[in-house]
Amino acid sequence: MRKSREQGVTVQPTVALRGVQVFQGLLDRGQQEEILQEIRKIVAHAPLFSPMTPYGRPMSVQMTSAGQFGWVSDAKGYKYARKHPNGNLWPAIPLNVLDVWNKVSGANRAPECCLINLYRETAKMGLHQDRDEADFQQPVVSISLGDEGLFRIGNTTRGGKTESIWLKSGDVVVMGGEARLVYHGIDKTRAGSSTLLSGGGRINLTLRVVT
Ligand code: SIN
Ligand code: FE2
Repeated sequence: MRKSREQGVTVQPTVALRGVQVFQGLLDRGQQEEILQEIRKIVAHAPLFSPMTPYGRPMSVQMTSAGQFGWVSDAKGYKYARKHPNGNLWPAIPLNVLDVWNKVSGANRAPECCLINLYRETAKMGLHQDRDEADFQQPVVSISLGDEGLFRIGNTTRGGKTESIWLKSGDVVVMGGEARLVYHGIDKTRAGSSTLLSGGGRINLTLRVVT
């Protein structure tokens, strides 16, 4: 982060919603394709899977991770794990993804987990907080690729009014500071709104410091 500031590579959010910063169109098509290529390599080593919810049903999104920690779930709930369910260590977070963190996070630490969520067709993600990390001073950065997704932002406690914004391919979101613990989720995606992913769908990468 500091390095990129020194190099003068600072960027400003185009929208701020309840303290959540949205950098619309931060990544151009070429950058999106380069990140997608890296995701394909990750998925070859750490295949996508549909985690079980604690309610005994699989989630509608498919997931995998990169970094020192990945996100898995079992009967006891969700947790960070050092290995993919297949026993492999998670692949490293790609440099072009770390570049995005360095540009927008303002953080003094590197991310330790890059969660990869794939939303096909009717997949969605209910309102939740990201609160399994040790240090809430560290922001959460997310990168949207492919079809548009309707991102809903609530409050730092459950319930109350919410606001929504369509996230497009190449948009980057930062949840930090006062907005680090806001409830958020994806209500739906707009099939056919992007040609980035063959087979359609939306990919979201979520970068977090875990420890
Ligand atoms: C998440 O909160 O884990 C995903 C958010 C998104 O898909 O944009
Ligand atoms: Fe989240």
